[in-house]
Order: sequence, then C-alpha cells, then structure tokens
Amino acid sequence: MKITFETRPSRKASACVVFSTEGGQLTEQAQVWDKKSGGALKRAMAAEDFRGKKTKILAISGPAGVAVSHLLLVGLGKPANLKAQDCEKTGSDLASELNARKATSVQIILGSELKHMGVEVAASHMATGLLLNSYRFSKYLTKEAKEKKPTLHSVEFIVPAPALARKLFDAPRKLADAVFLVRDLVSEAPNVLYPESFANIIKRELSPLGIAVKVLGRQEIRKMGMGALAAVGQGSDREEKLVTMHYEGGSKNQKNVAFVGKGVTFDTGGISLKPGPGMEEMKFDMAGAAAVVGLMKTLAGRRAKINAVGVVALAENMPSGGACRPGDIVKSMSGQTIEINNTDAEGRLILCDALWYVQEKFKPAQIVDLATLTGAAIIALGHEYGAVFSNDEPLSKHLVNAGKEVSEELWPMPLNDAWDKAIDSPAADMKNISGGRDAGSAIGAHFLKRFIQKGVAWAHLDIAGVAWSYRDRAGVPKGASAFGVRLLDRYVAKYCEMK
Ligand code: BES
Ligand code: MN
Ligand code: ZN
Repeated sequence: MKITFETRPSRKASACVVFSTEGGQLTEQAQVWDKKSGGALKRAMAAEDFRGKKTKILAISGPAGVAVSHLLLVGLGKPANLKAQDCEKTGSDLASELNARKATSVQIILGSELKHMGVEVAASHMATGLLLNSYRFSKYLTKEAKEKKPTLHSVEFIVPAPALARKLFDAPRKLADAVFLVRDLVSEAPNVLYPESFANIIKRELSPLGIAVKVLGRQEIRKMGMGALAAVGQGSDREEKLVTMHYEGGSKNQKNVAFVGKGVTFDTGGISLKPGPGMEEMKFDMAGAAAVVGLMKTLAGRRAKINAVGVVALAENMPSGGACRPGDIVKSMSGQTIEINNTDAEGRLILCDALWYVQEKFKPAQIVDLATLTGAAIIALGHEYGAVFSNDEPLSKHLVNAGKEVSEELWPMPLNDAWDKAIDSPAADMKNISGGRDAGSAIGAHFLKRFIQKGVAWAHLDIAGVAWSYRDRAGVPKGASAFGVRLLDRYVAKYCEMK
C-alpha cells in the first residue's frame, strides 16, 4: 500500500474522500465537491439520513461532474471529542469500503475541522488504520479470483503540512511493518515454520537493526539444564531452540526490561494428545514469541531509548516414541523439579526455563511474558480481552492502560496462594497441572510465578483468546492479530523509555 501526504492531489485518483461533522455539516472541501457534483453529496445525505456521526461512511459511485468514480463522505461526529482510535477505525473502514467498491486509488481531503487533534495527527492515525487493515496472508493462494483481490493500492492524504504528517507517520509505518511480520509468522503453516526456521527468520529480521541475536540449540539447552524446555522438544524431529534478542538503546546503567514469548510452533498436545477437530489452529501457539520478535523489531526500528531483551522458547509439541510421558519428572534450569502430568500443558514448561534464563543472564528489573497458554483464558474472557496476571500492581495497571490506548485490551486477573498450593506434587517440587478444571489460567500463571526471582516485577499475558481474530476488527483483518506488539510498544514508550 502506497501512502503519501501532499498539500494538493499529485496524481489522478479513482476515489475522493471528504468529511462532515455532527449534524451533517459539510467541511469546506466537502462543500466544494458537493457543488462540483451538482449537489450529489447533499442529495445522498438526505436519502440515507446521513448526519455526520463519527466513523459513518456515505458512498456515491459514478457521480456526475467530477473526475473520480467514487465520492465518499465520512462522519467525524464532534471533532473536539474525536480520539486517535476513532481516526484509526475510520481509516480501516475506509479501506474496506474502497476495496468493496473496487477503488484503486484515493485522495482523502482533511482540513481545519480537525484542528482540535491536529490535522496531520488525524491524518497519521487514519493512515495507520488504513495500512493495518490492508494485511493479507495470501502467499499460498495460487488460484484466487481477481474479483476477490483487494484493489486499493494508493492513498494520498491532502493536508496543510504534509512534511509534518510524513514525520508523524514514520513510527506507525515501522510499527505496521512489525505487525505484518508477526501476522506472517503466526499465519505461516507449521510445516514451514518450526523452531529452526523461526530462529533463522529472527536472525534475518533483527540482526540488521543492531539487535544481538543468539540461538541456543538442543545440545546447549540440555547442557544448561533446561530440562523442562528439553522435555517438550524431545518428541519432535525438529530441534527446540531458545532465541535471545538484545537491544541496547538506553544508557549503560539502565536496567533491562525483558519480554519472554511462548513459541510452540505446533501443539498436538503430545502424548496427552488433543482431539482432532480444530487441531490445525495450534499453529498459532507461537503467537507470544512472534509478538516478542515484532516488539523488538519496532523498538529497534524507532530507536527506543531503552535496554530491552527478548527471549523466545521455540519447540514443537509432538507425540512420538521419544516424547515425554505423563508422569515424567524433569529438572528445570532453576533446579526445581517438575512432574509432567499432562504433556499438553507444555507452554508453562518451555516458559519456566526461558524466564529463569533471562533472569540469570540479564538481571532484568521487570519481565512481561506473552503466551497462548490456556483454553481457560478464552472461557473467561472470550476474544475481547487478554488476561494479565502480575505480582506488581503498577506494572499491571500500566499494561492495562497501554492496551486501552491501542485497542489491545487486557483484563487483570487475580493470583491466590490456594492456586499455588494446587500445583504441589507428592513426587516432585511441583506438577504442571492441578488436575482439576478450576481457575485454569491462574494455575498456569502460578506455575510461572514459581520461576520469578525475588524483587522482579513480572506480568504474564495469556493471549490464547486474542492472538487470532475470528472476525474483522479495526486494523485487524480476520486471522492473526499480532496482539501485544502495539500494546507493548505503547507501554514502553509511555512508561519505560527515558524522556
Ligand atoms: N496452546 C494451548 C492453549 C490454547 C488453547 C491456546 C486454545 C489457544 C487456543 C495450551 O498448550 C494447552 O493445551 N493448554 C491446556 C492446559 C491444560 C492441559 C491444563 C488447555 O488449555 O486445555
Ligand atoms: Mn498444549
Ligand atoms: Zn500450547
């Protein structure tokens, strides 16, 4: 998608977008286009009872008197009340509308009606929504009908200060690149994306940005005593990997902030095999790891003033003659022993070693982990919220706030000593399931909590319900959402970076 900002149209467009405020008040430019089209806009407004409510769109195809094939009028509501997210939604909806109408190029004319937010700021937000909406995973569609392909490829925003708009849009453009990388990774087929190929992509994508990428393989993982990660990987012919990404954009004495991701490239459940129907969905069980990779790419891309370390544990959870069994007892890198009573509770096993490793190596002040950890998170919060568990109230609040700002919402969930006790095992230091169905997401969180060292602020995001979107949302077409990238980028910008 080509997105540009100019003071006046620089090329011929097949569509033109103008605006109306609450009550159906046309902006100056909208009035110009209404006149040119012989009053087509006002007639359509009356016909459809369009009153300029925010994010509403009115579209006229084949208008007389103008050179464009489509004339669109978009509601802004009361401009003083307009939020960034409204502009993003408008941009996203516009992209859908324009594609549905087969428009190939568009000029979007903004003016002083948006002075409250700043015309260029509004343009940048709309451009963000538009761009994020344009994602598709189509690399394997060899026979797709032309009518099904999106038509829109060029967007021009007409604003008073295009240089400013271009500058404002610089960071969102990079963010979208990272979001698209994450969506590609999460959508990718599990025969193509497995620990080794995933690690290679990480190296290829992040090394050029000045991020130090280190990959540990099966041998090193075993040698370092990561028995839990090794146990999950041992049933697969694909070697498990632990990938570390270190970005130093802060000062020397600034503590590291750590991000840890679950990267199960396919989760069959292992010997505790999952039921067949829907199992193909478990290719997205690496969405937490992908989000960490996307976040590191964004942070480095925009030269964030922070020292950040990303660690992803990559493994394929397979049943085989070499697979771990229910009842196996393994020793984690922390020294704590774990009775694996269910091989399908594998996320916590790979994460516990990744969490310990990052604390030992990088002594971070805080850790955020992301994982498609439990089906119970979907039972609790559906597909509208990720769950956040934390041992640190401010950290949890900041994450929730950041999420609200970017429409990646989190809901705080409780920890409780009773749930910690529930994973005590008679045979080992702990077991990886409680054995019951109660509070499944919290049980997972408590397991991880046993691997957080004293004084470290930690938050665990269970993104099982939000990593994949089952419907189109603003800026998120149905499919891999890249949940967490925008949230954590905003979190870092707002609460961690040196100003
Ligand atoms: N990857 C799954 C969780 C999941 C389920 C993510 C559905 C996304 C959609 C995880 O590894 C798992 O299998 N969890 C088990 C835990 C149980 C055995 C304690 C679950 O949720 O059933
Ligand atoms: Mn599982
Ligand atoms: Zn899993």
